[in-house]
Amino acid sequence: MARTLTFDIFRYTPQDKDSAPHMETFVLPETPSMTLFIALTRIREEQDPSLQFDFCCRAGICGACGMLINGRPDLACKTKTADLPERITLMPLPIFKLVGDLSVDTGRWFREMYSRVGSWVHTDKVFDPLAQEERMDNALANDIYELERCIECGCCIAGCGTARMRQDFLGAAGLNRVARFMLDPRDQRTETEYFEVIGDDEGIFGCMGLLGCEDVCPKGLPLQNQLGFLRRKMGLAAIKRFLPGKG
Ligand code: SF4
Ligand code: SF4
Ligand code: FES
Repeated sequence: MARTLTFDIFRYTPQDKDSAPHMETFVLPETPSMTLFIALTRIREEQDPSLQFDFCCRAGICGACGMLINGRPDLACKTKTADLPERITLMPLPIFKLVGDLSVDTGRWFREMYSRVGSWVHTDKVFDPLAQEERMDNALANDIYELERCIECGCCIAGCGTARMRQDFLGAAGLNRVARFMLDPRDQRTETEYFEVIGDDEGIFGCMGLLGCEDVCPKGLPLQNQLGFLRRKMGLAAIKRFLPGKG
């Protein structure tokens, strides 16, 4: 028998001075293969056109639809209501700037993070448009591609205890970005230069290693391995800094 779903949804529009944070309840009959995208769209079309939430690709690719689903960060477009209980609580991702209701501005956070970690290949080589492409070992190219699969959904940041306590913590997405460039032989940054970016409590040494990030990453990025890799690298870099003649 088809279930009747009850949605408790966070409502608040910060730029509206008459708005106050509260939960609002909506009831909807479940349909076969219903996702949260379908449910939220129906609620907006049939019950409340002012409900704010973000979707773009509806296929787990754009990263726009991250939200707290019964307390856990996940992509709403990929989440089937059949996998959830009849009562579903939806909240916006914490840490990111709230736009309204379930919509948050992850773009601002990621832009700032990319600028902090220098998220581009740093090289002195002058680009020659006529030169042949530089070759790269296939296995290494695959390793780099694996880390490039991040869709910037923000789930790992929202699920991170350190990010909740430290506003400037780079989080797994930021640290993963650094690991990606460390792997890239075209990037000429030295260990010392990377240490300047992530060798403190806002970087790798703030990470408590409990791996909430890897648990909630909807794209299955190998975050645990990257955090371990960076911790070893930056730990050694820290020791070298304090040993005379080793820097
Ligand atoms: S392992 Fe580190 S980055 Fe991942 S959730 Fe825990 S503190 Fe955050
Ligand atoms: S690492 Fe995973 S959870 Fe974090 S932003 Fe990228 S895709 Fe989302
Ligand atoms: S709408 Fe693009 S990932 Fe969900």
